[in-house]
Amino acid sequence: MVKPNLKVKIGGLELKNPVTVASGTFGSGEEYRKLVDLNKIGAIVTKSVTLKPREGNPPPRVVETPSGMLNSIGLQNDGIDAFIKDKVPFLNKVKTAVIVSIAAHRVEDYAAIAGKLDKIKRVDAIEINISCPNVEGGLEFAREPGSAAAVVRAVRRASKKPVITKLSPNVKDITEIAMAVEEAGSDAVSLVNTFTGMAIDIDTRRPVLGNVVGGLSGPAIKPIALRMAWETAKKVKIPIIGMGGIMCYEDALEFIIAGASAVQIGTANFVNPRVAVEIIDGIEEYMRKEGIKNIKELTGCLKR
Ligand code: FUM
Repeated sequence: MVKPNLKVKIGGLELKNPVTVASGTFGSGEEYRKLVDLNKIGAIVTKSVTLKPREGNPPPRVVETPSGMLNSIGLQNDGIDAFIKDKVPFLNKVKTAVIVSIAAHRVEDYAAIAGKLDKIKRVDAIEINISCPNVEGGLEFAREPGSAAAVVRAVRRASKKPVITKLSPNVKDITEIAMAVEEAGSDAVSLVNTFTGMAIDIDTRRPVLGNVVGGLSGPAIKPIALRMAWETAKKVKIPIIGMGGIMCYEDALEFIIAGASAVQIGTANFVNPRVAVEIIDGIEEYMRKEGIKNIKELTGCLKR
């Protein structure tokens, strides 16, 4: 059988395969370069960058949970100018798509970051993170269709790059937010970010995380994330990038069959830095075995 075609399109952006790595779990790729062939991954989504540097939250910032982890990093990063100066030179050497995640507290800051990225050729797309649960006001734009749409419109005006909006599961109805950002011009939606959670140390009777609450990710959230991806796929025409607890190629295929055009691998990178490439190989092997020539045949093919 001829090699299956794994190429997918996310708005105007073509990916060599549908497997990408999630923001905040892969840095800008540089830390992983000796462990995994970055050029095989469909796209690198960088850690969210803000307009100004941020120190992040007080430690502890991560805690393992049964079937997952909580994080409360607090959007630590060096700011957009340092990102362009320090990270883009490495990214220029990588032969795969680069999607830069951006976060802000004000609509005009999202636009300012997008405007700076618009001038960087290496940046293939922008992921608008409106869904960080770990900073004051981090979910403000994710919770209401109107405010989510306002961010997308501002970024759209500031940049011609394809725009992906990363949605929060911590909302009443994620499909409403997805439809609002589609209407506002988002080229795709990625979902879901982490679920707000917490852990308590019973010896000290204090919260384990320095920030008290954090975002839950990993296999524990997969069934809920999958359900949200499936529901959203029925409501929007733009591509969906599914994520939430994907640990193996079978998990990735579940999201694709539910309606996702691509997937993001997050927490699994902390367990196995090569997992994204193993998932790509697993999907290809599955397609050969099933006689599927093009990955698009699988997107949304759920039988009822
Ligand atoms: O705390 C963090 O930096 C996480 C960000 C996110 O979940 O979007």
